[in-house]
Amino acid sequence: MQGFGVDIGGSGIKGCPVDLEAGVLVGERVRVETPQPSTPEAVYEVVAGIVTSFGWTGRIGVTYPGVMKRGVAHTAANMDKGWIGTDVDAGLTALVPGTVETLNDADAAGLAEMRYGAGRDQDGVVLMLTFGTGIGSALFYDGRLVPNTEFGHIQVDGEDGERRASAAAREREDLSYPQWAARVDRYLDVLEAGVWPDLIIVGGGVSKKAHKWVPLLSTRTPVVPAQLQNDAGIVGAALAAAERFEP
Ligand code: BGC
Repeated sequence: MQGFGVDIGGSGIKGCPVDLEAGVLVGERVRVETPQPSTPEAVYEVVAGIVTSFGWTGRIGVTYPGVMKRGVAHTAANMDKGWIGTDVDAGLTALVPGTVETLNDADAAGLAEMRYGAGRDQDGVVLMLTFGTGIGSALFYDGRLVPNTEFGHIQVDGEDGERRASAAAREREDLSYPQWAARVDRYLDVLEAGVWPDLIIVGGGVSKKAHKWVPLLSTRTPVVPAQLQNDAGIVGAALAAAERFEP
């Protein structure tokens, strides 16, 4: 069975049909730069264009990099503030044929990892973290998602956690992997004071370089890199749409 996922991010919007048995993209994904300013209307146009370019007419899953409850966006840390309070389901459904399922980007990536990747068959408490422009989180207990945890915004030494420890912070401040790993370690230290997962899965582009920083972490929880990497959001969105997951 095939599904369709779109991953909205602060820098790019990516979409592709997904093979839901294998959890892989079918063919080449399409990526379009996120319009600036990244208003809902401008982004909807891009999403509609991507879906139409594949001739897809069925249900689609769409991720959003903020809190998303019953189709409505509630935060916009790295997006245009016009998203806050917007009914994204309604806005997209008006433009895109078929039905839309919207969810948080890290929740989507986590669903994909739990089904097809590093979290497969893992029960207990599993925490997925995505390191990119921000830090996204998805928390699972016995495979069930607790939606919209926002652990990127826990306070670490008086600062927003993602401000210091995201992948964007590493680039912005030109940190070496060991320097950045120390920041991530401190961030995880604070996080581990409040949650006791059995496993932490780390995703985002930097998970490709996991060997450079994961061994430097001193967490009590085992940390493993994500397996789906860049495609996790698209795959998880398609899965959520197919299974009518409603955060
Ligand atoms: C947002 C989260 C999102 C994460 C990754 C954070 O700034 O608050 O909702 O999952 O960035 O995009």
